[in-house]
Amino acid sequence: MSNSKEAILQELRTRTPKSGEFWQQAKDLVPGGLISGARKMEPYPVYVDHSKGAYTWDIDGNRYIDCAMSFGVHVLGHGPEAVLKALHEQCERGMSYGMPHTREVEFTRRLIECVPCAEIAMVCNTGTESTMLAWRLMRAATGKHMIAKFEGCYHGWHDYAQWSVFADPETMGPEDRPHMSPGSAGIPDGAKNTVLVLPFNDNAFQLIQAHAHELAGVAIEPVLGGGMLTVDAAFLEKLRDVTRKAGVLLHFDEVITGFRLALGGCQELTGVLPDVATYGKIIGGGLPIGAVACSKEMVAIAQKTDDGFSAAGTFSGNPLTLTTGAAMLKYLQQNSHIYPDMMAKGEFLRNGFNDWCASKGYPFCMTGIGSMFQIHAKAELPVFPRDLLGQDQDALAELQLHFRLNNVILPWMHLAFFSAAHTQEDIDAMLQTFKASVAGVMAARA
Ligand SMILES: Cc1ncc(COP(=O)(O)O)c(C=O)c1O
Repeated sequence: MSNSKEAILQELRTRTPKSGEFWQQAKDLVPGGLISGARKMEPYPVYVDHSKGAYTWDIDGNRYIDCAMSFGVHVLGHGPEAVLKALHEQCERGMSYGMPHTREVEFTRRLIECVPCAEIAMVCNTGTESTMLAWRLMRAATGKHMIAKFEGCYHGWHDYAQWSVFADPETMGPEDRPHMSPGSAGIPDGAKNTVLVLPFNDNAFQLIQAHAHELAGVAIEPVLGGGMLTVDAAFLEKLRDVTRKAGVLLHFDEVITGFRLALGGCQELTGVLPDVATYGKIIGGGLPIGAVACSKEMVAIAQKTDDGFSAAGTFSGNPLTLTTGAAMLKYLQQNSHIYPDMMAKGEFLRNGFNDWCASKGYPFCMTGIGSMFQIHAKAELPVFPRDLLGQDQDALAELQLHFRLNNVILPWMHLAFFSAAHTQEDIDAMLQTFKASVAGVMAARA
């Protein structure tokens, strides 16, 4: 088959006629045809029939090695038996009560056992809700209204968070003092006035000190999902020190890294403890969830304010989610050997890919840590969000087509995951596919 982009697109259409039919319908029913823009694929998305372990099957019967893992939800692969069994049992007992139930005690106890900074936890429905709740809590506990976040970090899509999620050359401003750029139309100025965007350099510390009188907290992703960039532990330590001295709370957003890199997430890996941490994805065992963990003192102070601190949610802590979540956390507590194993597999994948690209002189590289990885159209490993700029976007898009042609599926934005269900054979097959895909892209450019 020809390596030309058009030939590959045609082949993908031929392989997925049923998905093509559903795509035609979806475009009429949903804005842009997609429930989330992050689900984009070319020539159109595959429609999933079912998933199990490391694999996903589309409705045309094609099987893929799944490197999306539902954007990092499935650390054990799709449908782990221990979680499914608990889910089936709970279905018979009720799906939502709007009343307390025993699973919330088991779930939060397990969460607190694993999370180093946690003495108490609150549960909500998504990662976006978890950061919204954490930021409200930080404001209530300090009586200050602003939250600082770093350029390039994603903390969900609510109005206070979706600022400067990517460094955009048109709008980003100077390196030491990034401009605030909204991630969507429709975000009110009122929200903008509560956010300060920080750079990934020492100027961040000066900005925190200068704004300490109005800053409730500073939020950071210890590993940036956008780019799979690991923040240096020394930077986190300094951030901890500066925020503590300035009387500003520190928030680690571990929605991706929590229970993916270690039971205690980045807190365990770096030894740096935030005041508050947020969770989502993995801890629901496959169902939607968010959680906020912090000290008892912080909640007590927030509750004593004039207005009192509160949050709610019809589905927050529903028995289905907390049953699958508790089953997941129990399994992970009893099987924490999966983490060093995934770390080793991730290193094998990254070293294998990066050494091969370097040996061929191909301008591609892979970043990440443990089971989180991303391929970039760059010879040099990016470290900071602005290092991600200037990539050949056409080459990245073509790479995606080659992945799909080779029956390996990754999110269009390239940030990718594997799970404990991915065997060494799967990892070998992924590496072969990534190499063959880069070779295909380079051949088409020769
Ligand atoms: C670090 C981080 N925080 C928050 C969120 C938002 O989570 P959700 O998509 O569940 O709302 C995400 C989602 O990918 C995330 O990666």
